[in-house]
Amino acid sequence: MTVSLYDRLGGYDAIGLFATQLVDRAKADALLGRFWAHSGDDRDARALQLLIDYLVRETGGQMYYTGRDMALAHVGMGIDEADWARFIELVIQVAGELGVGASEGGEVLAFLDDLKPSIVITRG
Ligand code: HEM
Repeated sequence: MTVSLYDRLGGYDAIGLFATQLVDRAKADALLGRFWAHSGDDRDARALQLLIDYLVRETGGQMYYTGRDMALAHVGMGIDEADWARFIELVIQVAGELGVGASEGGEVLAFLDDLKPSIVITRG
């Protein structure tokens, strides 16, 4: 039997903690903080919950995701390559601190890499 990435990451609580720490760090970050500069606490709480729901669903957990798809949710924000690189650094930092295994970490990074074209703006 194959064990889902969701279970191998530690289930809902582990994914919730990962997402919370990642977003906290992104909001406090010198480069990425601008994306949350004018949003209020309730808006942020809603977006964080949607991120958790999305990650739970995508890793194989039981969840009905009610948010927007990734392209629609981020279109117009102007997230560029440098932002993405910093975001990935924060993912690696938080995953390391939470003790995510090398194999699971690699799967998360591959999953994010697949999402990148939906989120990052391309300059022609
Ligand atoms: C540099 C990378 C990223 C930045 C700066 C960013 C920024 C944001 C911001 C500011 C919001 C809130 C939008 C609002 O309040 O309406 C948001 C929403 C969201 N983001 Fe991201 N994001 C990034 C990458 C990602 C990635 C990789 C994922 C998925 C793994 C993701 C999943 C979501 C979800 C699920 C929402 C909520 C969608 C909804 O409101 O329907 N984001 N993002």
